[in-house]
Amino acid sequence: MIFDILTIFPGMFCSPLEESIVGKARERGLIGVRVHNIRDYAVDKHQMTDDRPFGGGEGMVMKPEPIVSALRAIAGDGPPARVVLLTPQGRLFSQQIARELSRLPRLVLICGRYEGVDERVAERFTDDQISIGDYILTGGELAAMIVVDALTRLIPGTLGNAGSALADSFSETVLEYPQYTRPQDFEGVTVPGILLSGNHEQIRRWRRAQALMRTRQRRPDLFARLDLSSEDSALLEAAEQEHQTAK
Ligand code: ADE
Repeated sequence: MIFDILTIFPGMFCSPLEESIVGKARERGLIGVRVHNIRDYAVDKHQMTDDRPFGGGEGMVMKPEPIVSALRAIAGDGPPARVVLLTPQGRLFSQQIARELSRLPRLVLICGRYEGVDERVAERFTDDQISIGDYILTGGELAAMIVVDALTRLIPGTLGNAGSALADSFSETVLEYPQYTRPQDFEGVTVPGILLSGNHEQIRRWRRAQALMRTRQRRPDLFARLDLSSEDSALLEAAEQEHQTAK
């Protein structure tokens, strides 16, 4: 998969895209990331990428010409791309959207800044608009990095263990069960005994019960959408009874 990122702050992308799984995926050619400086496509002598809003008001708006010139310059440089604007006004990014986008051959991510991007760019030159959450960042750069990161780990071969992306939280809309590693006793807090039992069936059931309880407690919105199996209901009931007797 190829990512083309359009930004006026290309330097922001250096280390996040060079380290860890994303960095390795690039080295191994599983993904390609190309960062383009929008300012290089600004034609006026000051290379302006923003201007005052028509109608007045606070802040600056990103001009359409440099962004559209950049889009046109890179259009033929790879397979057909979906053009995505990162903006707080976009559809809310989720694991489902990550999965959908990870199947595409190429994504162009436009990072907006200032008070926004001229509406004609959003309307005429993008296929999709994405927000990473209901809060306002100083620009779309961090949002673009999050999209690249979330998609990369879904591309086959990028994670050491090919199966693990599927088992993660949100793939089936329950949160993950708690995990422990050595030491068995850390400052007096011990690992739940069942995990040391070697009984795989009991461990599986314990983990499922933990995942369900955690989801119900922390994310009632996700829990409400679950279609519980009869085993799930029985596990939850048993865990509740255990909790009552332990009180
Ligand atoms: N730009 C500013 N805030 C943003 C957000 N929450 N998501 C995506 N792009 C943004």
